[in-house]
Amino acid sequence: MSRDDQLSRLNEFLAIPSISTLPAHRDDCRRAASWLMEQFRTLGCPVVQLMEGEGHPVVWAESPRIPGMPTVLCYGHYDVQPVDPLTEWVSPPFEPTVRDGNLYARGAVDDKGQVFTLLEAYRSVLDQGGMPLLNVHFIIEGEEECGGRVIFDRLRAEPERTAVDAVVVADMGYYAPGIPAVYTGLRGLCYAEIHLRTLRRDLHSGSYGGVAPNALETLVRLLADLKSRSGRINVPKLYKAVKPPSKTELKAWKSLPFDEARFLEEEVTGRALTGLKKYSVLERVWALPTFELHGIRGGFTGEGAKTVIPSQAMAKVSLRLVPNQGYEKVGKWLTRAVERLAPDYADVEVKLLHGGDPVQCDVSHPAFGVLDEAFEAVVGRRTVPARAGGSIPVVPELQLGGAPVLLTGIGLPDDGLHSPNEKVSLQQIWDGIEVFAKFFQGFAEKAGSKH
Ligand code: BES
Ligand code: MN
Ligand code: MN
Repeated sequence: MSRDDQLSRLNEFLAIPSISTLPAHRDDCRRAASWLMEQFRTLGCPVVQLMEGEGHPVVWAESPRIPGMPTVLCYGHYDVQPVDPLTEWVSPPFEPTVRDGNLYARGAVDDKGQVFTLLEAYRSVLDQGGMPLLNVHFIIEGEEECGGRVIFDRLRAEPERTAVDAVVVADMGYYAPGIPAVYTGLRGLCYAEIHLRTLRRDLHSGSYGGVAPNALETLVRLLADLKSRSGRINVPKLYKAVKPPSKTELKAWKSLPFDEARFLEEEVTGRALTGLKKYSVLERVWALPTFELHGIRGGFTGEGAKTVIPSQAMAKVSLRLVPNQGYEKVGKWLTRAVERLAPDYADVEVKLLHGGDPVQCDVSHPAFGVLDEAFEAVVGRRTVPARAGGSIPVVPELQLGGAPVLLTGIGLPDDGLHSPNEKVSLQQIWDGIEVFAKFFQGFAEKAGSKH
C-alpha cells in the first residue's frame, strides 16, 4: 500500500470528531469504532467485536490464530479531547492538513495516528508473508480521555483478554527528537469538582457588601490554601505516601539530555517554571504529585458590569498521583482537606468525577530488548527509560495478566496534545509503522527459537 493511500485512510479516521467527553459526539464515537472494525475486517481478522458497556464501546480484534506462537496485545484509544479554543486552529481540527511534513488534526498523535501505526505494522507483517508469524490482538477504547469505565468492567469480567505474552501501549512519545523512549511509570489522576455555597441567593453588593460572605471569594481563598506559593500541596498524608524513584531511575534521569531554557521557551511557553524548587524539573513532572486548577465558575462574567455578591461557585481541580497514591484514597484525603479548610459559613461538596491509579513498569523483560532492536534498526537508537507525567487509567488493568507492558510511542515533545493545532510528524508515523512491524517479527522469532 502506498504512503498516499495510507495517509488518506488515516485522514478518514482523523476526520471523525470522536470527542468522548461531549454527549453531542456520542454517535461520532460509534462511527470511529465502526471505522476501526472495518479496517480489522479488511486486514483479515477473524474476530472483530465491540465490547459494550455503559458508554462508548471498545473495539477488539484478533488475527488468525497460530497455535504455539506468542500473542501481543496492542492498546490504543480512538477518542479525542475537545477542540476549544477553536479560533486558535490554523486549519480546522477535523480537516486533517499537512504543513511542513506534519499532519495537523485533533487526535493526530493522541492517539489515532499511533493506533494507525499499529494497524499498518500488522498489515506490513501480513504483506511480507501472507500470514502473520504471531498472534496479534487489538484493544482500542473510546473513553480514555473522559474517564469511562467500559474497558475496566469488561477486562475485570474477562481477564483472559490480558493473558498474553506482551502488551504494547502506543500512546506516548519520544523523550526528544531522535530519542525513543519506554516508560517506567505513569502518573495517576484524581479529578474532582469543588462546589461551594455561602448564601441562599445572590445579593446586591452595595447593600450587603462588607458583611455578606461572597462564595467566589471563599472558594478562591480555599483553593489558594490548598497549595502554597512554593508549590507544596496542602492535603494531609499526600507527601508521606510518595514512593520516591529508585536510585537507578534518578541516575538514568540525570544522564538524559535536558535543556531547561529550551523546555521553558518552546514547550512550556511561559516565563518561569513553578513547583518545588528543591526537586529537578524531571522529578517534578514524573515523580511528584500535583494540584491543578482547571476551571472556575461563579458570579458574573458577561459583558459589562454587574454589582453582585455570588451565592455559589464551583472549581474543577485535579491531582496527578505517583506510585503508592491510589486515586480513591487520595479522593478521600482531598475531600477531608477541603472540608477542613472551608469556613463554617460555607457549604462545600467535593464531587469526584474520575481517576486512574499511578503505574510502575518493570522494563527488564526480554520484550524490551526486542523493542530496542526494532528502534535501533529503524531510527538508529535504542530507547531511554523515562516516565510520563500524563496518565492512562487502564494500564493497571492491562498489567493484571502478568505480561510485560511496553509503554512507548512515536509522539514528539512539541506535538501539542490536547492543545490547538495538535500534530504528528509524518516521518514519525512511517518510522513507527516500521518499528512496530520489526517488533512483531522480532518477538515472533525470539519465541519461535525457544520452541
Ligand atoms: N496519551 C495521553 C497520556 C500521556 C500524556 C502519556 C503525555 C504520555 C505523555 C492520554 O491520552 C491522556 O491524555 N490521558 C489523560 C487521562 C485522563 C483524562 C484520565 C491525561 O493524562 O490527562
Ligand atoms: Mn492518549
Ligand atoms: Mn490524551
